Amino acid sequence: MSQTRKKVTLPYLFDKVAHGEPITMLTCYDYPTAYFQEQAGIDMILVGDSLGMTMLGYDSTLPVTMDDMIRHAQAVRRGSPNAWLIGDMPYMSYQPSVETAIRNAGRFMAEAGCDAIKLEGGAEMADRMRGIVNAGIPAMGHLGLTPQSASALGGFRVQGRDARRAKKILEDARALEEAGAYAILLEMVPDRICRLVSERAKNCFIISLGSGPDAHGQLLIYHDMFGLYPKFKPRMAKVFGNAGEVILNGLKQYVAEVSGKQFPQADNYFSISDEEYTELLSLLD
Ligand code: KIV
Repeated sequence: MSQTRKKVTLPYLFDKVAHGEPITMLTCYDYPTAYFQEQAGIDMILVGDSLGMTMLGYDSTLPVTMDDMIRHAQAVRRGSPNAWLIGDMPYMSYQPSVETAIRNAGRFMAEAGCDAIKLEGGAEMADRMRGIVNAGIPAMGHLGLTPQSASALGGFRVQGRDARRAKKILEDARALEEAGAYAILLEMVPDRICRLVSERAKNCFIISLGSGPDAHGQLLIYHDMFGLYPKFKPRMAKVFGNAGEVILNGLKQYVAEVSGKQFPQADNYFSISDEEYTELLSLLD
């Protein structure tokens, strides 16, 4: 099954945009999933701080640390050497100052082999964005529903539904682009706002998560698309295969077979020769 492909680069991604070919992007947090995403030819992989919820079982992304992120990003890089790999800056890894932001962005590059980082926020984060980009690190913005600010935004809900807030999203996108962002993720923004942002983007491209088809690419949370997050399934996520159900059925079958003494069978374990076994018994005597 193993295939190799060329390393995904920024020129390759901008080339896709120029030719109107949608960019594919998924979240990923571990080695085996990264391996499959590499084989499937996913362009961009986000090691999202959503791993706090999907992998670590927290109720939000806020408890996630830089060390958590680095450990998972390293595993993903081992599984996918060629995707454009983005490390998601966790809560308080960039908000305190430009210097904090640059140092933590640098950790993703130096310790995990990432190609870029992502941070949440608009004009108020433009100085962090500029500092990181000036340090030579490609940086992606994130507008709309920004989970690290869910409390201030009134929960996990669509953003920019009224003209005033929609205008702010357009202004924030402009500020991030001017600060050097190569891409901006729009999460849970109305489709026509996403289209406007995409049409106005000159030097960056726009990725949609639940914001409609008129962006330059699409992102889904891997756990949502395979039924692997037990707490809820957001409306925007299409389930492409119910792996959660397959795994649960397998686990129930395992419990039943061990309980019923049907597992293991002879080809599930190893034997010792009669000769060696007889000698062992004599040694024990
Ligand atoms: O952490 C993450 O996976 C994200 C997505 C919600 C876009 O930032």
